[in-house]
Parts: sequence; structure tokens; C-alpha cells
Amino acid sequence: MAVRVLVLSGPNLDRLGTREPAIYGTTTLAQIHRMVEDAARARGAEAVCRHSSHEGELVGWINRAAEDSFAGVVLNAGAYTHTSIALLDAIKAGGAPTVEVHLSNPDAREPFRRRSRIAPACVGRVAGFGARSYVLGLIGLLDHLGHLGPPAPQSAALPE
Ligand code: DQA
Repeated sequence: MAVRVLVLSGPNLDRLGTREPAIYGTTTLAQIHRMVEDAARARGAEAVCRHSSHEGELVGWINRAAEDSFAGVVLNAGAYTHTSIALLDAIKAGGAPTVEVHLSNPDAREPFRRRSRIAPACVGRVAGFGARSYVLGLIGLLDHLGHLGPPAPQSAALPE
């Protein structure tokens, strides 16, 4: 069976396309879902994409991710990134490796966006690449899961 990955988007991300396009671009969440599903399929994986503006619903999905047979989670928690201890705890409790993604680069914006509450429980983070942050986060997660082949040695030289 193909490795399954859960892709979650939090509050206000259903407004992508028209929401502050100078910051978030004009790609809709439905288009992002298609991009991620295609990128997963091309790598022999399956992406299941969901959106909720409700913290508790996101907590439930993350809690059950492993038992619902997801190998990992790609999570854009929106503003909950900066506030939610409940999501931090859910990632720890759910046990599925989680990659934090953002369309914008929160570190380059208002000071209150510079703190991620969920980062301590995440494998890593992709931010600032617009809609493609989701795809890059998916690829990072699949690599972390060993799905893209054996990991490169830590000492491997970078190309010139
Ligand atoms: C966001 C960044 C958050 O600070 C913001 O609250 C969002 C979107 C992003 O994808 O850039 O809702 O997560």
C-alpha cells in the first residue's frame, strides 16, 4: 500500500486566492491540494488533504494520524502556529512525524509571528516559498520517512 501522508491547513487558509494576495499569492487551497496530491502520487505516495478553521478538529486529526495509518503530517496551522499549545501537545501525542509549512516567511513579518508554538514537536519547517512550501514540505517529510531512498550521508559535500 502507498505511504499515506495527511496534509492539514488551519484557519483562514480556505480564503487563499483572495486573502492578502501580496503576502500569500493567488493560488487557492483547492489548487494547492491538487499540487500536493500530484507530487505525492509522482513519488508513489498518497496525500490526503483537509482544512479546518477549528483548533479542536485539527487536534483530533493530528491525535489520530498514526492510528488512521498516516505515516506523517504536513501542517500549516495558520495563526494557531503562534498560539496553540494544544496543537503542540497533539503532535507529540499523535506520534506521526510532522513538518511545519507556511506560504509566507513568518520570521520576516510581524514580531508575534516569529514564535512557533508547534516547532519544538516538528521534524522541520518550510516557509516562504508560497504554495510550493506545501510540496517542498511533503518532499522533506517523504525523505525523512526514508521513502525517497537511503538518506545522504551527513558529510556529503554540497555541489559547487
Ligand atoms: C501562515 C503564516 C501565519 O502567520 C498566518 O497566521 C497564516 C498563514 C502562512 O502560511 O504563511 O494564517 O501560516
